Amino acid sequence: MTQFINDNSDRDRVRDASDIVKVIGEHIDLKPRGREYVGLCPFHNDNKPSMYVVPHKQIYTCFSCGAAGDIFKFVMEYHQMTFGEALRYLAEQAGVKLTERTRRRSKHDAENAIERSHIKDANETAHKFFRGILRHPEHGQPARELIERRGISPDMVETFGIGAAPDRWDGLELFITTKDLDPNVFLAAGLLKQRDSGTGRYDALRNRLVFPIRDQIGRTIAFGARRINDEDEPKYLNSPETPLFDKSATLFGLDLAHRAIQRSGTAVIAEGYTDVIACHQAGIANVVATLGTALTPNHATKLQQLCDTVILLFDGDEAGQRAADRAAEVFLARPIDVRIATLAGATEAKDPDELLKLEGGDDILRSVFDNAIDLLSFRDARLRAELAGAGPARIEARVRDEMRELGRLGLASADKVRWQFVIRQLHDITGLDTATIAVLVREGAGRRPTQIEEPTPTASTTRARTPIVEALACLLADPTIYVGLKDATKQSILSAAAETDLAHIAQALAAIADRSPSPTLTAILDELTEQRLDAAPAIALERDIVRRLGEDPELIRATFETCMQRITPPAETTKAASPLDRIAELKAARTGENATDRTRLPRTRQ
Ligand code: UTP
Ligand code: MN
Repeated sequence: MTQFINDNSDRDRVRDASDIVKVIGEHIDLKPRGREYVGLCPFHNDNKPSMYVVPHKQIYTCFSCGAAGDIFKFVMEYHQMTFGEALRYLAEQAGVKLTERTRRRSKHDAENAIERSHIKDANETAHKFFRGILRHPEHGQPARELIERRGISPDMVETFGIGAAPDRWDGLELFITTKDLDPNVFLAAGLLKQRDSGTGRYDALRNRLVFPIRDQIGRTIAFGARRINDEDEPKYLNSPETPLFDKSATLFGLDLAHRAIQRSGTAVIAEGYTDVIACHQAGIANVVATLGTALTPNHATKLQQLCDTVILLFDGDEAGQRAADRAAEVFLARPIDVRIATLAGATEAKDPDELLKLEGGDDILRSVFDNAIDLLSFRDARLRAELAGAGPARIEARVRDEMRELGRLGLASADKVRWQFVIRQLHDITGLDTATIAVLVREGAGRRPTQIEEPTPTASTTRARTPIVEALACLLADPTIYVGLKDATKQSILSAAAETDLAHIAQALAAIADRSPSPTLTAILDELTEQRLDAAPAIALERDIVRRLGEDPELIRATFETCMQRITPPAETTKAASPLDRIAELKAARTGENATDRTRLPRTRQ
């Protein structure tokens, strides 16, 4: 939930200086649709674009899972930030200087946010230290030699913020002691370790080349460190997971690659840190790597919001096979194409890093990308190789098994268009007719529950459209209507709303309209947020009516008036009341129905 802040000016200035399409568009790929923009919702496993961004209202909303809000809410939810963190981040992005009060960490920031921000500070301190060591004439010498040997350019050393850990047990330890910093935070960040016996701490990283691991927005959330001496084990050391560092959702280099990934629509996943750096150095900027693990559903979720094609780049055949199987588990049911590229066969070089050091290596690498084959063809080629020389019975049985396996992997839950496309592709590959393929794949799907979780419909996506609900929706779509209303009408709205779960929305509207001659949706949403209430249902209401009526103010006003005729208590409008209302009134008096139900009765009677 958003934090309460008394002074709105910082929030308003940051919002005014920010472009919601640009802010959200940095996280998910947005396509224009009329006056709005659409993309895959990052807050549930979205198969077709259901996230809408409405620039002229400064809001986003997902029709599927009900997520909705403004830029602050988006950034808070996406990056699990508090309001204060989101405000500071967006202020920095927009070049807005915050007032001293908000610049300081808010007292209201939740405890785990404090831990996160402390770990972030510790990582920044450690990063300065590692950078300093790399420049140190003596302590940085071995690391600089390794950089030189590896052919990493000075430019890339800067871009990736590469540093070095000195060859001693107490380098960072001494650094933080002289700065009088709390060693406990560095222990929590995994940068220091507690001695097993006795007291005291020692550096977790010693005599290593240090790569900061950053999140998509460039915060240093962890470190990866490569040994300098071949005798040291292991070859790479990573920070442990912390509240700031979720290994399974992090891609090394994404802060530097995400724009290129969005622009090209393609992300390349390499195997290691040095491969990513080498590719960026060669001007291939859409390359990232997992952190020594296989791709996870979390990675896939992140990637599918940025692009529609992922190329998995593998050094050798064997790793490629394993990775392809893993990728099928993660990607097959998702709206993203996966292609497999291996260096084996194209070059003697053992990995992209080595390849790019060769003359013409970048051209070879680009052709490896161009020749990447899609996941299904890759599996088919493997199957064909396996079945070379086999008889028809064995071939048929094996092809059937493969179709069932694709079903088990989630293919049956892919969206309709993709499903048809893939079925056609499988027909071309296997020669089986599409109906048989569909049966087999669905059979396979029955073997385990599908992986795609449907979003749970929220109250805001399933709400019945009663007159008070519709009236409030109209008022949210055009809050200026409220200003001209008679006091009695305003009162009717509040009391009708009081009998629903939307009372707070009516109250926020009233509060804003009382304060301002030209109330806006943004102000109402802010008011709700300040009351620590969820603004999402209000956005859902507003979007629902706008989707049906468009943004025509006259139509919205007329609809509002029609709804009010059904709500207004007869005592005030006896003469104007329609026969329907009479019936409703009589019915209600007899049965004690509430205002919401009352309006439905005449219809059930007809
Ligand atoms: P490699 O051993 O292929 O490393 O592991 P590399 O990137 O090619 O390293 P250089 O070129 O020898 O310096 C690939 C990736 O696997 C992870 C790292 O992310 C590495 O970049 N890894 C490897 C570990 O996490 N721990 C290890 O001990 C080894
Ligand atoms: Mn390597």
